Amino acid sequence: HKRVAILISGGGSNMVALADSMAGDHPARPCLVLANDPDAGGLDKARARGIAVASVDHRPHAGDRAAFEAALMEPLEAAAPDIICLAGFMRVLTPDFVNRWQGRMLNIHPSLLPKYRGLNTHARALEAGDGEHGCTVHEVTAALDDGPVLGQARVPVLPGDNPAALAARVLEQEHRLYPAVLRRFAAGDRRPVWLP
Ligand code: GAR
Repeated sequence: HKRVAILISGGGSNMVALADSMAGDHPARPCLVLANDPDAGGLDKARARGIAVASVDHRPHAGDRAAFEAALMEPLEAAAPDIICLAGFMRVLTPDFVNRWQGRMLNIHPSLLPKYRGLNTHARALEAGDGEHGCTVHEVTAALDDGPVLGQARVPVLPGDNPAALAARVLEQEHRLYPAVLRRFAAGDRRPVWLP
């Protein structure tokens, strides 16, 4: 099996979707869930699934990304992942770190990239009056929320939507898209997945 490390910052619902998908004839298995916050809610969900967990608090390293990433690298290297999935990991990674895992690191972003890189994607889609919105899984490169697209899922923007309602609709699709992309990617197939 391919070994998959999942990096999280919060509740980890995408991590759960990924972890639960890696069973049976799936070509990968989770080897580590790593958070930048020791209180990240997703850590307990990973523990409950018998997955090894670690956390590296970014706060003592404020202003020193290289030091934070050096600390992050320890449990990561020890877990020897073949693939790293960023799943709601809210720290920007340096080119050095990204290049170390070039071609092996995926991210999910809550917009139809190349639209709305960065934060507050749902509010920005609403503000722009977009008729559809969605999520993207892409290979991580040194540029923020860039890199080859490995899959997208679309949702309609509905009358009366607010950012929270739209985010919930997108998140449901994230939970379908990310496992679909990972299954394909872990099998060595980089053709994008288009949902629904
Ligand atoms: C997800 O919507 C993910 O796309 C987004 O954070 C949420 C994490 O939820 N990621 C980003 O905004 C990355 N910049 P989760 O912890 O429940 O998976």
